[in-house]
Amino acid sequence: MRLGIDFGTTRTVVAAVLDGRHPVVAFDDGGEFREHVPGTAAVCDGELVVGWAAARALAGGGGGAIRSIKRVVSALAPDEPVPGLGGTTALELVVAFLADLRTQLLTRSNLEVAAGEPLEVMVAVPANSASRQRWLTLEAFRRAGFQPVGLLNEPTAAAVELAHRHLGDLAKRSPKRYVVVYDLGGGTFDASAVSLEGRSFDLIASEGVARLGGDDFDELILEAAGVEVTPFHLERAREAKEALRPTSRKLHLELGPERPDTPSAKDTSSTIREPVAVDLHLVYERAQPLIDRTLEHTELLMNRLRDRGIDPDDPRELGGIYLVGGAAAFPAVGKALRARFGKKLQLAPQPFAATAVGLAIAADPGASVIIREAITRHFGVWREAEDGVDKVFDPLLGKGAGAPAVVERRYRPTHTIGHLRFLECGALDEGGQPVQDIVPWADVYFPYDPALASAPAGDLGRMASVRRTDLLANEIAETYTYAADGTISVTIANLSHAYARTFSLGALR
Ligand SMILES: Nc1ncnc2c1ncn2[C@@H]1O[C@H](COP(=O)(O)OP(=O)(O)OP(=O)(O)O)[C@@H](O)[C@H]1O
Ligand SMILES: [Mg+2]
Repeated sequence: MRLGIDFGTTRTVVAAVLDGRHPVVAFDDGGEFREHVPGTAAVCDGELVVGWAAARALAGGGGGAIRSIKRVVSALAPDEPVPGLGGTTALELVVAFLADLRTQLLTRSNLEVAAGEPLEVMVAVPANSASRQRWLTLEAFRRAGFQPVGLLNEPTAAAVELAHRHLGDLAKRSPKRYVVVYDLGGGTFDASAVSLEGRSFDLIASEGVARLGGDDFDELILEAAGVEVTPFHLERAREAKEALRPTSRKLHLELGPERPDTPSAKDTSSTIREPVAVDLHLVYERAQPLIDRTLEHTELLMNRLRDRGIDPDDPRELGGIYLVGGAAAFPAVGKALRARFGKKLQLAPQPFAATAVGLAIAADPGASVIIREAITRHFGVWREAEDGVDKVFDPLLGKGAGAPAVVERRYRPTHTIGHLRFLECGALDEGGQPVQDIVPWADVYFPYDPALASAPAGDLGRMASVRRTDLLANEIAETYTYAADGTISVTIANLSHAYARTFSLGALR
């Protein structure tokens, strides 16, 4: 059985591959059918519960609850403990959530899976994700008992869904077209430009903010209402927000008991608070800077298309701006988008499910789609400057680079040991310095001094690197290989003395 699974901040949605169709899977939750599982976790009687069970605990004022598993773990290293969950690590939490999802799929969904049949899944991460989040996602799916067959960027999957629905008519208008996907979900904003040519999809550029989504609007609502920000109240804000209409002027917050997390408060009906009516223009005013940021990133993306000679204002070239993600339904977002992009906007028929359905199509051998994705982040290295004090950033692979690629650097050293600090980031500033969501990778040590040629790597890290101008007689070559599967490795060689070391650094998409 093949599936597309969109592990979302607010909603996890599953779509299946069934005889050329890609239906959204429904879960039976106590007799009610639901097309998603909430990304919630809670500790109930000392036990970790996830999904709908956790959402109910949260609605009942259960303590120790986490509203958005994906958002919480995106800020942590895989083996870092999640605050408030005892010793559970970020990876373990996602594994627990996905293992439960697998059980729900097998026992309480409308999906018919034969006993022992493997679940092959196409999965996705936000385009702007750091590589450790990519690793964590794939590893967690594996440990939860799924067999991942691929990892895509979420907006690419949405573009696949759009193009699949319009296969015939898009191609008729022009053989090669572009679409911009504007995906504002619960936790992340991504804007990506994808080129479509027949059944070929190419992610050509991406911009985004790792932490900007509907969760932030929920927080603003509570701030505007002067209500304490707790997971319980945030859920009340989300419900009120989702009930808004473009014509609404007030938002009605049902706050429930005074202190939902204290058991005594639950019993006394007198502490139930009256609904609070919040003036919406106060909320929209606070939300505007966040919405503006999404528009700025979309503009940046348009400029990157122009740099490639594509005219986004020409409707024959840019097929439209495809709105996906639930937070695009927030009235202030829709208004800002209509004002800026007007007729170019295309609304997803199922904004929550576009990514999952696109993933199922990508997983479907019968749909025979070809997907190519370029790097969505920058990758580079901090080197010691001549003076041995400053650090200089050397960008090795830029956003948009495609795999496979080989990058070489040659230089003459002035120190006994080279210390290379690798990192990835979302953007470079005007001076070429890394900014935005910087994530460090491994540190690598290499003996420039031939006398240290056979020193163990661990020892090199502990030795002091000494400045010696006689080392200028050596020529060093670093050869970076960015392989088709996204992995990056480097071979560093002292060409003058014919010794080399190879390091595998990690994977980037
Ligand atoms: N009608 C609505 N009006 C306003 N916001 C809405 C509406 N419906 C859903 N949302 C918001 O959309 C967000 C969820 O969107 P979506 O399901 O696309 O996110 P996700 O895929 O779980 O998250 P991400 O892609 O960031 O990981 C939530 O913040 C939710 O409150
Ligand atoms: Mg999403």
